[in-house]
Amino acid sequence: MNNIVLALLVIVTGYIVKITLFPSYKQNPNLKSKGKKKPEVEKKKPIVEGSFTPRQLSQYNGHDEKEIFIAVKGTVYNASSARGFYGPSGPYSNFAGHDASRGLAKNSFEFDVIRTFEQPIDDLNDLTETEKVALDDWEALFKRKYPVVGKLVAEET
Ligand code: HEM
Repeated sequence: MNNIVLALLVIVTGYIVKITLFPSYKQNPNLKSKGKKKPEVEKKKPIVEGSFTPRQLSQYNGHDEKEIFIAVKGTVYNASSARGFYGPSGPYSNFAGHDASRGLAKNSFEFDVIRTFEQPIDDLNDLTETEKVALDDWEALFKRKYPVVGKLVAEET
């Protein structure tokens, strides 16, 4: 009988020690198995990967490459998580694979405010103060929401 009581005591003490030392196993199921989805914070961590010319960027339009990259004020963001907005059938698909700065500044997603990869990179110098403020607000949203993958650079000649 004494042995049984002792065994139970060991088990209970062991369990208390385990949940005290390793509480995360209980709280965060993502830590349990490697195959599971990574926690949200890790997914959003910005990774700077390199430089994109407008021509290279144009591949990431959600068609040619599955991923969707968008440039805002010279920085390229991976907006693949917002395929509903920027994917081929989304309302803002014109921005995918492009520098969206001018469109965002002027509140338009029409092609006439979006440069093609054959045109020089937009210096945005002619924007009005209001448009610049609008663009800065969009930039803040992109910074908050999407990982940075690089810079928009001119093609070497
Ligand atoms: C009829 C006018 C419009 C309506 C009703 C509208 C509505 C919306 C709504 C409801 C969202 C989703 C917001 C959210 O859930 O976070 C959204 C997102 C967005 N809108 Fe519009 N929109 C309009 C026009 C425009 C125009 C003209 C632009 C051009 C710059 C634009 C650019 C965007 C962008 C870029 C996003 C996605 C932002 C992100 O990546 O989270 N929208 N819009």
